[in-house]
Order: sequence, then structure tokens, then C-alpha cells
Amino acid sequence: MSEAMIEVKNLTLKYGDALAVEDVSFSLAKGECLTILGANGAGKSSIGKSLAGLLPPSSGSISMAGDDITSLDPYLIAQRGLSYLPEGRAIFPTLTVEENLMLGARKLAEDPKLAVQHAYELFGRLGERRKQQARTLSGGEQQMLAVAKALITEPDVLVVDELSLGLAPIVIADIYTALAAARVKNNVTIVLIEQYIDRALSFADRAMLMVHGHEVWNGPADSNADSIVRSFLSGEAA
Ligand SMILES: Nc1ncnc2c1ncn2[C@@H]1O[C@H](COP(=O)(O)OP(=O)(O)OP(=O)(O)O)[C@@H](O)[C@H]1O
Ligand SMILES: [Mg+2]
Repeated sequence: MSEAMIEVKNLTLKYGDALAVEDVSFSLAKGECLTILGANGAGKSSIGKSLAGLLPPSSGSISMAGDDITSLDPYLIAQRGLSYLPEGRAIFPTLTVEENLMLGARKLAEDPKLAVQHAYELFGRLGERRKQQARTLSGGEQQMLAVAKALITEPDVLVVDELSLGLAPIVIADIYTALAAARVKNNVTIVLIEQYIDRALSFADRAMLMVHGHEVWNGPADSNADSIVRSFLSGEAA
């Protein structure tokens, strides 16, 4: 067996003195998808930020394909092939669809135009709207553009935070279909931070549940996971 694509060991994250995440560990093989679930404030986004280098851990380590990336700057982590899609739409509203994609693709040493063509193959709707300013797209199309941009460098790892936030179910389905196609094509390893439990569990291989900064459960993303996660979350709400 090859080494893990992502290995997180005993990760503890703080904002000043405030503890956000304590002693979280997980490991992902190439092509695997882990979904991180949990209520508001559970620490999900903090884990995503620390994978991307935006929130350096107080303790613990993060490695990618066997290399320690714990203290690296975000741009160096991105260069190594980890793409991070933060909460909200990471696009430039006044640039066109094509300009947004080219901005992501120009980091590529090889053919950026070809990479944009590939993005249109995966996300047909974006091809139809290539000359439109991003701000004129629907919310779903904007999120699709953000995903296409995050995938354009064909990263080894994609960390995506709240993909479906604020979108209609039909649009969410479209975005997940495109993400699934990208996954098949590039065997990208995915950390999927989600509040939409059904969608996340049907997409991911494994799930991890965070409650108040602690990992309270992890296991295969199956129907059993669904009932465990729901019972934890309803218990917490009660
Ligand atoms: N920039 C910040 N400064 C201080 N505390 C923060 C900051 N960002 C998050 N926190 C705190 O860290 C904890 C974890 O927050 P985090 O954003 O990781 O949760 P989350 O699971 O992503 O929540 P949500 O579902 O609302 O996005 C919370 O207590 C939150 O208030
Ligand atoms: Mg969050």
C-alpha cells in the first residue's frame, strides 16, 4: 500500500487562547473522500483552514503524500497540489467566467487554455456562459465556477467548505454531479465540509463527526453513519 495522501495527527487549533479543535486525527488514501460533519461552531472550517495553511496548528501535524506541510505558507501548500475552496464564492465577480478560469489556470506550466477547455467539458453550463461577468451568473453557477476554478490545476487534494450553502437542492445536485465526474477523471482526494448530511454521506467514502471541537465519531459513510450523525446532532440540539 502507498502512503496516505493526507495524514492529520493530533491536530489542535486555537484562535488566541480559544480552543477551536482538539486532538483530531485522520488519514486519507489517494482518491478517498472524507466528509467532516457537525453543527455550527463545531470546528469544521477551522480544520479546512489549517489544511490550507491559513490556520497554523497549536500542536499536531499535517502531512501530504508523506511530506510534512504543517508550517508551510498557503501558497506553498497550493503549489504542492492542495486546492482549497473556502466558504462563500471564491471568484472575481467583475471578471468573466473565462477570465476567472484563466486566473486559476495560468499557474499551470502546461497549456492553460487546454485546462479551461477541460473545465468546460466537465461544467458545460460554464462554457455557455464563458463571456459573461461572474456576477451575472446564478448563485449555483457561481459556485460551479468556484469549483471549476479550484479543480483547474488538477489538484491531488481538494478541501471544500460548505459547497451547498444557500443553494437550491437541484443546483446542489448539479454541482455534486460535476464534482463526481472530476473525481473519477482525476482521482482527487477530497475533504468535504458539509452541513447537508444526505448529500455529503452519499458522496463521501468516510465521515467524521465534530462536536464542540472534538471528533466524536468516524466511520464509513453509509446508512449507519446517517443514523449515528443524526442522533448525535439531535441530542446536541436538545
Ligand atoms: N476567526 C476566528 N476568531 C476567533 N474564533 C473563531 C474564528 N473562527 C472560528 N472561531 C471559533 O472557533 C470555533 C470553531 O469554528 P469553525 O468556524 O471552525 O466552526 P464550523 O464547524 O465551521 O461552524 P459553521 O458550521 O458555523 O461554519 C467556534 O467556536 C468559532 O466561534
Ligand atoms: Mg464553517
